[in-house]
Amino acid sequence: MAKFTSSAHLICPLDQQSLTLEERTLKCPSGHSFDIAKQGYVNLLPVQKKKSKDPGDSKEMIQARQRFLQAGLYQPISDRLNQLVSQQLTLSDNEPVTILDAGCGEGYYLSRLATENNLTEQEQIELLGVDISKWGVQAATRYQLPITWIVGTNAQLPVEPASVDLIICMFGFWQPEWFAKVLKPGGKVILAEPGVDHLIELREIIYKEVHRKDVPELKGIEEVGFTLIDQQQLEFRPATLNKEQVQDLLVMTPHLYRANYEGKQSAQQLEQLNLTAQVVFRILEFKA
Ligand SMILES: C[S@@+](CC[C@H](N)C(=O)[O-])C[C@H]1O[C@@H](n2cnc3c(N)ncnc32)[C@H](O)[C@@H]1O
Repeated sequence: MAKFTSSAHLICPLDQQSLTLEERTLKCPSGHSFDIAKQGYVNLLPVQKKKSKDPGDSKEMIQARQRFLQAGLYQPISDRLNQLVSQQLTLSDNEPVTILDAGCGEGYYLSRLATENNLTEQEQIELLGVDISKWGVQAATRYQLPITWIVGTNAQLPVEPASVDLIICMFGFWQPEWFAKVLKPGGKVILAEPGVDHLIELREIIYKEVHRKDVPELKGIEEVGFTLIDQQQLEFRPATLNKEQVQDLLVMTPHLYRANYEGKQSAQQLEQLNLTAQVVFRILEFKA
């Protein structure tokens, strides 16, 4: 049985009351209970929010992303994130700080943030990773770090209102109302999204016509209390991808579903591929 890192901020997804850990079960005062899985995570996804039997990224997608990320191909993205977190987060002695990765996938970015920025050694820092995919969360527990891993949805985060200092959302599902609900006043969000030319070489191979779309406008953010305080772009060329890595990249991105048969065939025949990675980071502040 793997250890579960409990968070003081978890709430019941059914009635939003605080959860307390009793042995290997989280319980709310009304008697709803959620068992800790043997891998050391908890499932707090309300059934009514489960739009399919197996929501979120599939086991195959998670495994492909895990191999790709573990090969270090996106490490510059993780490095930039870690740098931004250091700049945005003020850590002072004994002040509790909570960081939430919303849509954490298999946990690469949060785990690397924890280890590279030495966050796990600081007792006042609480780290939470939430993803709707149980495969993602199960994979994340393999990092064996003191991080609370939760199967849950960004569209109803099972976290106490006004308890989070920083949300990171890496290629995930940005939910302004819910992020605003759980952030402390002055809290920040770091969003990372694909830039116009992200993976352009692959897109040119698999699509007849490449749509060059800028990052989506952040509509209506002021109404829920957010201000965009910074936007910056990171561009780099990952090491040459081998055949298996090209395949993994296709599986871990929406391109697998979007590309037609011929497009996928062309990508599958590639022995190697040189790529441009382009990521836009946007930082938002929540004023309440
Ligand atoms: C493109 S992946 C990014 C994963 C990870 N952040 C990364 O960059 O490696 C998007 C993730 O969002 C998750 N997801 C989809 N809908 C979600 C929701 N409503 N709430 C939380 N996670 C969700 C998927 O399961 C998937 O792991």
